[in-house]
Amino acid sequence: MRTRVLQITVLGAGLLSLGLRDQRTPPASAVRPMTLRTEYLVDPLSIDTRIPRLSWILDAGTTRGVTQTAYQIEVASTPTNLAAGKADLWDSGQTASSHQNQIEYQGAPLTSRQQAFWKVRVWDQAGGRSDWSKPATWSMGLLDKSDWSAQWIGDPLPSVDIVAATTLRHQFTLVARPLRAVVYATALGAYELHLNGRRVGDHVLAPEFTDYRTRTQYQAYDVTSMLRAGDNAIAALLGDGWYAGGIGLAQSLIHQPRNVYGDHPRFLAQLEITRDAGPGTARRNDRIITDGTWRVTRDGPIRASDILNGETYDARKEMSGWDTAGFDDSHWAAANIAPNVDTALVAQPNEPVRVTQDLTPIALTEPKPGVYVFDLGQNMVGWARLSVRGAAGTTVALTHAEMVDDNGTVYTDNLRGAEQTDRYTLRGPSTTLETFEPHFTYHGFRYVQVMGLPSRPRLTDLVGRQVNSALTEAGTFESSSHLVTQLWQNVRWTERDNMFGIPTDCPQRDERLGWMGDIQVFSGTSMFNSDMGAFFTKWLADVRDAQTPDGRYADFSPQPFRQRLVELKRADFMGVPGWGDAGVVVPWRMWQQYGDVRQLRENYEAAKRWIEFIRSNNPDLLWKNKRGNDYGDWLNTDTVNGSAIPHTGGEVPKPVFATMMFAYATDLVARMAAVLGRDGEARQYGALFGDIKAAFNTAYVKDDGRIEGNTQAGYALALHFDLLPPSKRAAAVAYMLEGIDAYHGHMSTGFHSTYRMMLELSRAGRSDVAYKLINTTTFPSWGYSIENGATTIWERWDGYVKGRGFQDKGMNSFNHYAIGAVAEWMYRVILGINNDDDHPGYEHFVLHPIPGGGLTWAKGSYESIRGRIESSWHTDGGTFVEDVTIPANTSAAVYVPASGAEHVTESGVPASRSNGVRFVRMEGDAAVFTVQSGKYSFVVR
Ligand code: BGC
Repeated sequence: MRTRVLQITVLGAGLLSLGLRDQRTPPASAVRPMTLRTEYLVDPLSIDTRIPRLSWILDAGTTRGVTQTAYQIEVASTPTNLAAGKADLWDSGQTASSHQNQIEYQGAPLTSRQQAFWKVRVWDQAGGRSDWSKPATWSMGLLDKSDWSAQWIGDPLPSVDIVAATTLRHQFTLVARPLRAVVYATALGAYELHLNGRRVGDHVLAPEFTDYRTRTQYQAYDVTSMLRAGDNAIAALLGDGWYAGGIGLAQSLIHQPRNVYGDHPRFLAQLEITRDAGPGTARRNDRIITDGTWRVTRDGPIRASDILNGETYDARKEMSGWDTAGFDDSHWAAANIAPNVDTALVAQPNEPVRVTQDLTPIALTEPKPGVYVFDLGQNMVGWARLSVRGAAGTTVALTHAEMVDDNGTVYTDNLRGAEQTDRYTLRGPSTTLETFEPHFTYHGFRYVQVMGLPSRPRLTDLVGRQVNSALTEAGTFESSSHLVTQLWQNVRWTERDNMFGIPTDCPQRDERLGWMGDIQVFSGTSMFNSDMGAFFTKWLADVRDAQTPDGRYADFSPQPFRQRLVELKRADFMGVPGWGDAGVVVPWRMWQQYGDVRQLRENYEAAKRWIEFIRSNNPDLLWKNKRGNDYGDWLNTDTVNGSAIPHTGGEVPKPVFATMMFAYATDLVARMAAVLGRDGEARQYGALFGDIKAAFNTAYVKDDGRIEGNTQAGYALALHFDLLPPSKRAAAVAYMLEGIDAYHGHMSTGFHSTYRMMLELSRAGRSDVAYKLINTTTFPSWGYSIENGATTIWERWDGYVKGRGFQDKGMNSFNHYAIGAVAEWMYRVILGINNDDDHPGYEHFVLHPIPGGGLTWAKGSYESIRGRIESSWHTDGGTFVEDVTIPANTSAAVYVPASGAEHVTESGVPASRSNGVRFVRMEGDAAVFTVQSGKYSFVVR
């Protein structure tokens, strides 16, 4: 059948050119399936989910009203088979469906190492059939423990007194060049892999941060072209990483800054080589594994490396040719083997951390003789690459910081215990240019202070290398307001800087943990900004790993200290309202944004356990007991040091806050159950939600609608989580506005309530007030930080105040995304891009831009899982123009601000008669149209 289809297509084209048509050939469709992905990734090399999910988007050019009515997927074991239409793994056949993502592979069972090559074609609304897509591929990883014969190796000495990185190598001979070679590698620690003198892959700090006691990720690299017949060398650098090096909060929590997971970094690698064994002979498979025949030394150039403190590198100790065949390693030691490593090896499901861009400095100063400060112009994350000439033995120190002091030197107090200093000792001689960049550390910084240089540097001698999870960027935003656009950019950068295999709170001080409260509020924004599907798939496993048996989610995930805390008889850093809830909120958002039902399924039991933990400890349904460290609506304005606003009255009382979070999470669990078809549990948790609401209203809401504490935050959260009876909503909005007046037009909100208040103002028809808040530059506001030079979002409203200086050095990050969740409001209200829970994954969505705040134009886009949504608007004299793009195979409700549909044209004709557009109703100040896929230009006069 498949071969026939292909032939018919070719034949059909020939007949068409003669003016004839083969009856069996459907008309050609101009739609093109593209961006084929497997488990959210383009051509991944190691998938270990046995039923991978496939997705594509459709390019339909400017044609309107394009839908997909069917698809056909072919999966073959070789590219040749695929090209020949021989789908030996799976042929879905023509499948009537509008789905184009989360499509589960249903072919022959997949085995370890299996390569799959696939393509897809689709049928459109007119029955037209597209061409086949370009081919895509994925490979399976090592699915069973028994697939591994490699052994965990390392240096015999622990990484306690000696902190130098380990260098490992092994030489081997191949009789022929391989047909294919894949190396699977990982570490307890962090590694860099080399083959025949070249670096393999560009991963940074692989295998990334997980709870190594439970789960360690391995990476796969195709190294076919790097091997040769004859002698080869495989080698690696092994650093301490999160496994054995410093981890944020370790010192303060368990009084042990390093070696939290272990004190022996280990490396594991398995190089699998397939080669031709000659005519008529079966292919041969060879394996090179880490074992006791490998050689190791601690005497290499990396003298120390620590994620928080930095790297010390002595170039005089470089070993030329260490990663090539023929190097004399006879004075190195034999590798030491760790026999019983107890961790599950899983294929890394997320995009690796890598260098994603380079920044060049905008200024160079010399605040003190011989002390040079480079300004990268942007608070960034990664490290600096320095070019330098000098005598052998000269040591240069690079200290990284976010701010400079009044005297122009770097301000490092807020880094607490993180040194963020790299040291480089020159190889010499001074006639040779040397270049340094570190291997196993990263820093959060805008400024690099360099000391010990032999001579005055040039601006171009240093480059800032941005390092983060290499996520595909999904959102864009621009507007007529410099302030508003800069705010969006600051959020964008803060996200980039904190997505580092886990979503961190901050990238600079001795913390950098996957704080759950922060991502609970920021997850929506993060998904507008970036494609988070693979990233959250990885991190949600960390979240489940960290959950306690009694159902408490951790305050941060991974939770490296749980075991030690239990030993110390401490039960904290677990189970906090607003933090634990990320375990429920993030999977839910994965479903809303990507239609990812599998994430709901994988997280559902854990989410239920969380609810049951709270319920069982709080039988009257008010969350009064067991709130762990109980951070509340963190960093609300009660914590601000300033006289411009009240010092009390910002914080929503903690039991009120906690009960609201309990209600919200229960509501989401009920919704999850409904999506998963667990109707009984959906009803049960739905009823529990109702009961919590009732208890909340009885205990904390007065007859006149005042909520205990009478805070902006309290009203915002109660409205946002739909906790109030309809009769009290208007009062809540009024009190919330009253609260803003009491703060002279400022917010008094904290981490959890800030962006939610913005959304609730707009929902209540008071976007004018939300716009005022976003345009404010007096303190506290986002604008205040921007006027003071911020290029990322500050942790605190008053991180720095002119005349007063820096906030408490004990907690003052300038790169914290939580209050940057306001960008979700920018996408949802300024651009108007909103998902529709009745049609998850943007099958249908709502475009409802609300102009205001003096903006004359705004423009942006969101790369949804179904393709690119664009929204832009501008005012032009008395005319309002709204241009939108609705991706193929989606539709949208488009709101156009107008007093009646008759005032609206689309591409020059009355909108209600325009092709692809249907007028539905007037709603408030907007005419609402349903719009099919395509590009549209609405004009209101
Ligand atoms: C982190 C936060 C986190 C908080 C808990 C801080 O030290 O940086 O962002 O959510 O602790 O309150």
